Formats: sequence, structure tokens, C-alpha cells
Amino acid sequence: RRLLGGGALAVGGGVVGAGLTHAGAATDTPPATPPAQPLGTQTVPFFGAHQAGIDTPAQAHAVFLAFDLLDGVDRAALGRMMRLLTDDAARLTQGRPALADTEPELAVVPARLTVTFGFGPKVFAAAGVETQRPRSLEPLPAFPIDKLQPRWTGGDLLIQICADDPLTVTHTQRMLIKDTRAFGRLRWTQRGFRRGRGMQDDGVTQRNVMGQLDGTRNPPLGSPVFDGAVWVDSGPRWLHGGTTVVVRRIRAELETWDAADPTAKEFAVGRRLSDGAPLTGVAEHDEPDLTKTNELGFTVISESAHIARAHVRSDRQRIFRRPYNYDDAPAPDGTSDAGLIFAAYQRDIGSQFLPIQRNLAENDLLNDWITPIGSAVFAVPPGCREGEWVGQSLLG
Ligand code: HEM
Repeated sequence: RRLLGGGALAVGGGVVGAGLTHAGAATDTPPATPPAQPLGTQTVPFFGAHQAGIDTPAQAHAVFLAFDLLDGVDRAALGRMMRLLTDDAARLTQGRPALADTEPELAVVPARLTVTFGFGPKVFAAAGVETQRPRSLEPLPAFPIDKLQPRWTGGDLLIQICADDPLTVTHTQRMLIKDTRAFGRLRWTQRGFRRGRGMQDDGVTQRNVMGQLDGTRNPPLGSPVFDGAVWVDSGPRWLHGGTTVVVRRIRAELETWDAADPTAKEFAVGRRLSDGAPLTGVAEHDEPDLTKTNELGFTVISESAHIARAHVRSDRQRIFRRPYNYDDAPAPDGTSDAGLIFAAYQRDIGSQFLPIQRNLAENDLLNDWITPIGSAVFAVPPGCREGEWVGQSLLG
């Protein structure tokens, strides 16, 4: 009903809300239940203390764009670029065309569009503000499990575009790339997706391309645990209220995963495939008991299971995972090219992401079926007020 019920009409670049349906316009009697707006009319505020697209419930579609800065792009040029980008992102996310929009008709379905910007490690030297670089914002060390490809690795500027509609993402991508043309070159583009919005109840844990429920033990959005793990509150002042993001492209080895039996798959993660419950519990959100042993004296959840290796003791050390699936064209023999665009947000890469990644690289049963093929890190500036621009606290 939500999707089909007398929706809003897009007229001449604006969005006319519910009530002006074909039927509704012909009568003065309001319908018993006001018709719901189509999901495409929903917006997420652009301005605020934090950039949107982090604590926003994940939209169905995403593209991650990473750019290399052109030689000679300095602090002033970066400021010019971020003004342009902020202005267009602020418009598009509210369902208004970009300043020089060539297809303004495409802007009227914001579909919870968010645009999130990040700065890579080299931006600081380019802008002459190297002392402002968070200390652990540098390329991750090489891990033995890595098979990183330059085409998915590194980058100076990140633009993460998320929306519940793929055409909205495409249009926004095109408009924002135009804004960067005088300043950078696209280094990589990663498109990702989750379940279509409205296909399941909002807020349920989603499955990834390997079939697992993925996201169960994330810090809940907007909770004190989330705030304490994600938003920067120490170190360089300009980044307070911002965060950092690690974007890893992780290929899922689906052919060998297919060959594993369900028990091996569940043992590798430490959770059941059917409902995501820990092997020591009965329901998805039961606390895993990492010490519980079986009759042979072995822990029920293996010490090498993914959730045991990824577990951290302190809430301040947690990371917030906001991954998207990817599924590129299969090889001619049918082998999949699918996996996760693993985006993880945390205050500090060095004390949160890195120890977890080290633990996993060392001995995680899941490593047999996943291969990191790309890696990039970015500082994500705080949000801004109307009239300001993203990154102003560093570059302004
Ligand atoms: C938990 C899958 C990569 C960190 C989980 C869970 C699954 C999963 C199914 C259990 C449900 C949940 O709590 O979300 C995957 C897959 C990966 C991957 C398929 C790669 C393709 C990573 C990486 C990291 C990571 C690279 C961090 C470096 C975590 C953390 C948890 C978790 C922190 C929660 C652990 C807990 O406290 O219970 N992952 N994961 N994962 N994963 Fe991953």
C-alpha cells in the first residue's frame, strides 16, 4: 500500500505532496487515511553537526567515488571545490536540482539521498596542513590476506552517495563529478546495493551476498555507544564531530563458499545462517558466550570464528559497519565477481579498526572465503550549518 497508495506528483521540478492525488483533487472530502507519500519523496537533512550518510539508516543503493587531486591543487583550490560540492549536495539531497543541473527533472526524487565527503591522507600535505592529519590516517599496513589492486585502493577525496533509488544515485554522481573536474581525476568507483527499500521492514538486519545476516552487533544508530565509537572527540580540533572511514573491497569467494556445508559456514562465523543467532544462543540478538564449552571441552564458538576474532571488550573500541554488497559481471565461465564494499566508521583507525583487522588477518576462519582486493582510508569532516561548507574547519 505504501508503494502504490495515492502518491505525490512531481510537477515542474517540485514535489507536490499527498492530497493532490488524481482522486483527491476531485473531492473536498479528505480520504479516511491520508495517502502515504512515495518513499522517493523522503529527504534526510543535509546540514547538521555530523555529515549525513553515517548514522542514516542505510539506503538501498550506494556509490563510493574516490578521486586523486591534480598536481598543484592547494588549500584555496580545495576550498573552492568543497564549496561547489557542498552547495550541490545540499540542493540535491533536498530534491532540488544542482546549480548547473543539466537534467533538473531527475533531481525531484531525493529518495533519502545523502552525500558524505572524506579526505585521504595526502590531502593534508597538499593543503599545507599536515599537522592537522589525524595520526592514524594513513594507508593500512599490508596484511597477509590482502590481494590489493591499485584500481580499488587509495584516493584523496571520497564521495559516498547513498539513496533508495539507483537513478537518483546516478544523477547525483554525475553532477558531483562535474564539480570536481578542475581539481581531480576519478581513481575508482564502487557501486553497491542492499535489499530494495520496502522489501522488508526497515531496520531488520540484512543478508550479504554470502547469505549471512550481517550487522547484528553493530552499535545501534544514535545510541551513546554509537556516538562514543564513531564521532571524533579528541585529536585535531577541526575533526571533532567528524569521523574516519575505512573502505575495503572484499571479494567473496562464492564458488568455494558454495562447496562448504552449512555447518562449516556457521562454524566459520560463529552464528547460525537461518536466523543469525550465535551458536551459543537461540535468537539473533542473544549475547554470544565465547567461553561456553561443549562435551569435548572445546568452545562452542571457535576461537577462530569471525565473531570471536572481531570481538572487542570496550565500547570505545567498536567500529560501525555500513557495508554494501557488490556484484559485477561474472567471468565467462560463470564465476561470480561479488563481495562487500566494507565501509567501517570509527573515531580512530589506529585504536579501533586496526586491532580488529589484525586479529582477523591473523586467524579468522572466514579468511578462506574472503579476499580484500581494495583499501582506502579517509577523514570524514563534521557536518556544517547552512552558509558553511564541508571541510571548512580544516580548509577555511
Ligand atoms: C560480525 C560477515 C569482514 C568486523 C560479522 C558477522 C558476519 C560478518 C556475518 C556476524 C553478524 C554481525 O554482528 O554483524 C563479514 C563478511 C566480511 C566481514 C562477509 C567480508 C566480506 C569484516 C571486517 C571487519 C569485520 C574486514 C573489521 C576489520 C566485524 C565485527 C563484527 C562482525 C566487529 C561484530 C563482532 C561482535 O562483536 O560480535 N561479520 N565480515 N568484519 N564483523 Fe565481519
